[in-house]
Amino acid sequence: MAMQAHPVPEVRVLDAAENAVPLLLGELREVVARNARPLVSFATGGTFAAFFRSLDAELRSGHIDGAGFVGTHLDEYIAFEPNRRGGMVHELTLRCPALRDMLARGSFLPVPCHGAEGSLRAHEERLARAGGIKLQFLGIGRNGHVAFNEPGASFEAGFHVTELAETTRADAAPTFVPDEPPRRAVTSGIRTILDADRVVLCAFGRGKAEAVKAMLQADVSHSCPASALRSHPNALVLLDPEAASSLDAAADVAN
Ligand code: PGA
Repeated sequence: MAMQAHPVPEVRVLDAAENAVPLLLGELREVVARNARPLVSFATGGTFAAFFRSLDAELRSGHIDGAGFVGTHLDEYIAFEPNRRGGMVHELTLRCPALRDMLARGSFLPVPCHGAEGSLRAHEERLARAGGIKLQFLGIGRNGHVAFNEPGASFEAGFHVTELAETTRADAAPTFVPDEPPRRAVTSGIRTILDADRVVLCAFGRGKAEAVKAMLQADVSHSCPASALRSHPNALVLLDPEAASSLDAAADVAN
């Protein structure tokens, strides 16, 4: 199912964004079936909202066993504790309250939000002790960022503190009205993301089309941090037709 010119990562263009939900749940089921309590890292953006609604239902019904994996996530605004409105964990647990239960049980590992160097290294050690990230879900910013690795970010970094790009702040602004969106965040680094055994990136909508093209079809470059994924041996990119609309060649279509 790979695009001919770019065999890595695998790219699938779905008829509609909602068709990604069963595929994403399938990815999770598979990693849980294959590993003893694997570490699964979630992306917290709006792209995954429908997935989280379904995941919540699956966890509550027991169709997916919440005790069968350990959860974590990519990034957090500076000083946004898990219960602070607008923060990544807060948004995530609004969409998927079952993950709040995992957080309370200690089986969801929140990114340390104050950015102290020691806390970031300790977080990386916790992830390593949990076996390393077996499955990493990922979105992409319209400027090509992954997590909060903005254009120019190092491909070698682990968790670190970063300044948010203006497009990123503008996209986040509605969540924070009447306040200003945050300026700084703790983010997983590209090296950490590439270390995951499996990466599944989703991009939906026309606003992501240029970033998707830069990720898949321009040179691998720091100007598009997502292009670093091209060196990952086990990555899947799920697109809707709008997000795929700037690609040069038609990718395979899956329903
Ligand atoms: P979104 O964010 O899912 O809210 O579009 C993706 C991202 O910025 O990485």
